[in-house]
Amino acid sequence: MNILVTGAAGFIGSHVAETLLARGDSVAGLDNFNAYYDPTRKRANVALLALNPRFTLHEADVRDTETMERICAEGGFDAIIHLAAMAGVRYSIERGPLYVDVNVRGTVNMLEAARKANTPHFVFASTSSVYGRTEQLPFRENDPLGKPLAPYPATKIAGEVMGHAYHNMFDLSFTAVRFFSVYGPRGRPDMMPYIITDCIVHDREFKLYEAGEMYRDWTYVADIASGVVAAADRPLGYQVFNLGRGEPVRMADFVELVEELVGKSARMTTPLAPPSEPPITYADIARACDLLDYEPTVPVAEGMRRFWEWYQLNYQ
Ligand SMILES: NC(=O)c1ccc[n+]([C@@H]2O[C@H](COP(=O)([O-])OP(=O)(O)OC[C@H]3O[C@@H](n4cnc5c(N)ncnc54)[C@H](O)[C@@H]3O)[C@@H](O)[C@H]2O)c1
Repeated sequence: MNILVTGAAGFIGSHVAETLLARGDSVAGLDNFNAYYDPTRKRANVALLALNPRFTLHEADVRDTETMERICAEGGFDAIIHLAAMAGVRYSIERGPLYVDVNVRGTVNMLEAARKANTPHFVFASTSSVYGRTEQLPFRENDPLGKPLAPYPATKIAGEVMGHAYHNMFDLSFTAVRFFSVYGPRGRPDMMPYIITDCIVHDREFKLYEAGEMYRDWTYVADIASGVVAAADRPLGYQVFNLGRGEPVRMADFVELVEELVGKSARMTTPLAPPSEPPITYADIARACDLLDYEPTVPVAEGMRRFWEWYQLNYQ
C-alpha cells in the first residue's frame, strides 16, 4: 500500500509510519514540525524513518489547501492516516481559535484533498476525551457525545462529524480511531509518563491531581500503531473505534511504578483537577477487537519499562 501519514514526525505518527514501513508499505510522511514541543525530537523521529528508501517527507502545514491538494493528487494514496493536530488538552484551554484552525480546518482541508484525489479511505485520530465527564463505564463508541470539557475534544468531535459528512456526500470511507492515553518510546514531553519520569530523575516537583485518585486507560504506542494500521487496511464505510487497553490504572499506582523504575521517590503537589480533566478514562475495545482484530498486548508495567529504557538512552 501507499499511504500518507500526517503528523508523521510526532510521537504516534512516527510509530505508525515505522509499522507500515516494516511490512513493506510506502509512506509519505507530512509534518510542519511545529514548536508545541521541541522540534529536535521530531527531526530525530523522522531521521529514523528516512533510513528507509520507501519513506518520503513533506514538510508542510495541513492548513495549506493548495499544497495538500497537490500532495494528494500527485501521491495516488490508497489511504490517508490523519494524525497531525494540536494534541494537548490543557494547552487548548486558552487557545480555542488555534485548535479550531489546525484540528477542524486542517482536517476539512485533508478531507477535501482526499475526495478531489479520489483517495478511497481516510483514518482520523480522535480521542477518549470526546466522552467528557461520564458515569457510563466503560466508554462505548455509541455513547452520547456533545459535552466536551475543553476546545481540544470539541475539535476532535467536529473532525469525526465532518468525516461523516464527507462519507455521506462523496462515498469516502472514513474511520475515526479514539486513542486512550498513549505512552511509550518517543513519548510526548508534555504528557504525564514523561513528566513524572523526568521530574523524579531531576528531583523536581510535579502536580498529581486529586492525590492520584484518577484513572487513565494507558495504552502502549505499538498497540495503538497496530490498531491504526488495521483501520487503514479496512475501508468499512463510516466507523468509529476505541483504541485503548481496557484496564484503567490509578494514577497514584502509575507514579509508584515510575518510582520503582527510576529507583527514587517522587516529589508532588496534589491539587484538585481542573475542569478539563475527567476522573477516569476506560475503553470498551470489543468493537475494535471484532472488526479490526485489535489486540493490545503490552501491559503497563512492561510498556513503562520500555519507555524508561528509551528515556535513559536519549534523555538522561
Ligand atoms: N498521545 C495521546 O495520548 C493521544 C490521545 C488521543 C488522541 N491523540 C491524537 O493522536 C494524534 C497524534 O498525537 P501525538 O501524541 O503523536 O502528538 P504529537 O504532537 O507528537 O504529533 C502531532 C504531529 O502533528 C504535527 N502537526 C501539528 N500541527 C500541524 C499542522 N498544522 N500541519 C502539519 N503537521 C502538524 C506536529 O508537528 C506533530 O509532529 C493527534 O491527532 C492527537 O490529537 C493522541
